[in-house]
Parts: sequence; structure tokens; C-alpha cells
Amino acid sequence: MPVIRPGDAEDLAAIAAIQAASPEAAHWPPADYLAHLLLVAVGDTSVIGFVAARQVADREFEILNVAVAPAFRRRGVARGLLCSLFHQCQGAFYLEVRESNLAAHMCYKSLGFQTVTYRPAYYENPSEPAIVMKFHSC
Ligand SMILES: CC(C)(COP(=O)(O)OP(=O)(O)OC[C@H]1O[C@@H](n2cnc3c(N)ncnc32)[C@H](O)[C@@H]1OP(=O)(O)O)[C@@H](O)C(=O)NCCC(=O)NCCS
Repeated sequence: MPVIRPGDAEDLAAIAAIQAASPEAAHWPPADYLAHLLLVAVGDTSVIGFVAARQVADREFEILNVAVAPAFRRRGVARGLLCSLFHQCQGAFYLEVRESNLAAHMCYKSLGFQTVTYRPAYYENPSEPAIVMKFHSC
């Protein structure tokens, strides 16, 4: 299993490459993640996944992005990243996911996230609904 550790400036190039290989993911400027909670998964030689989240209120967090390099998917990397995040931060976690992003939706569902609302035409290019999901870590 990969090692999960806080991300830092030296990880930004790898994070940018994972985002570039993940068109379904959100596309934040990677340096912006340094102002928030950032965890990376490190495989044998390099960063293979990351999760970024921000605290929006007391015991309330928003997951900004989670992505795993395509060659390392379906090996529990996203699960490991999200479980580490929940271990470090207790409270409610919210996220938005494109309706068509089945892999992400299934991943969140498998971890216990529940759908709280549906936002029609929330995304642009292409226009698509967002599913808003919530998980409570304790
Ligand atoms: C979504 C994503 C982060 C999942 O990462 P991952 O490391 O492959 O996920 P895991 O291996 O931890 O999977 C955990 C569980 O999620 C579900 N899951 C993950 N990918 C799935 C897929 N393609 N199809 C169906 N279920 C899937 C499964 O239940 C899986 O458990 P299992 O493998 O024991 O059956 C990855 O597909 C990815 O990087 N996608 C592109 C970026 C993205 O869409 N990010 C989300 C933005 S909201």
C-alpha cells in the first residue's frame, strides 16, 4: 500500500500531472492546494494520488478534489487517502461530483457518502448536473 503523508510544494508537479490525466476531476491550480488540507499517496517512487479539502466551518469540510494516476486506480488508493483525511479531521465532509462520473460516485458511496441534493446544470462544458454528497467522520 502507498504511504499517505501531507503534500508540499515539491509534490505540485506530480499533482498537476495527475490532474492533467484526469479530465473528470476538478482542475484547481495545484499551488492553491497548499493553502488547504493536502494529502498525497506515495507509491514506490512517486506521488500516485492526492486529496485536497478545506475547512469551511467548525467541524465542516469541503473536499476540493481527489484523483489517482490512471495506472494505479482500483487498488484502494482513493480509499486510503479519504480514510486518512477522515482520521485527521472529524466532522461533516461535503463534495460535488458530476452525474456522469460513475467511478467517483461509486467510490464515495462505498465509503459511506450519501447524496444530499442534486444541482441541475451545475457544471459547464459540458453542462451537467452535480450530485452533492455528505459523509460524517467521527
Ligand atoms: C474516482 C477515483 C479517485 C477513485 O480512485 P481509486 O483509487 O481508483 O479508488 P479505490 O481503488 O480506492 O476504490 C474504492 C472503491 O470505489 C469504487 N470504485 C472506484 N472506482 C470505480 C469504478 N471505476 N467503477 C466502479 N466502482 C469504482 C469501488 O467500490 C472501490 O472498491 P473496490 O475496488 O474494492 O470495489 C479515480 O477513479 C480517479 O482519479 N478518477 C479521476 C478523478 C476524479 O474523477 N475525481 C473525482 C472528482 S469529484
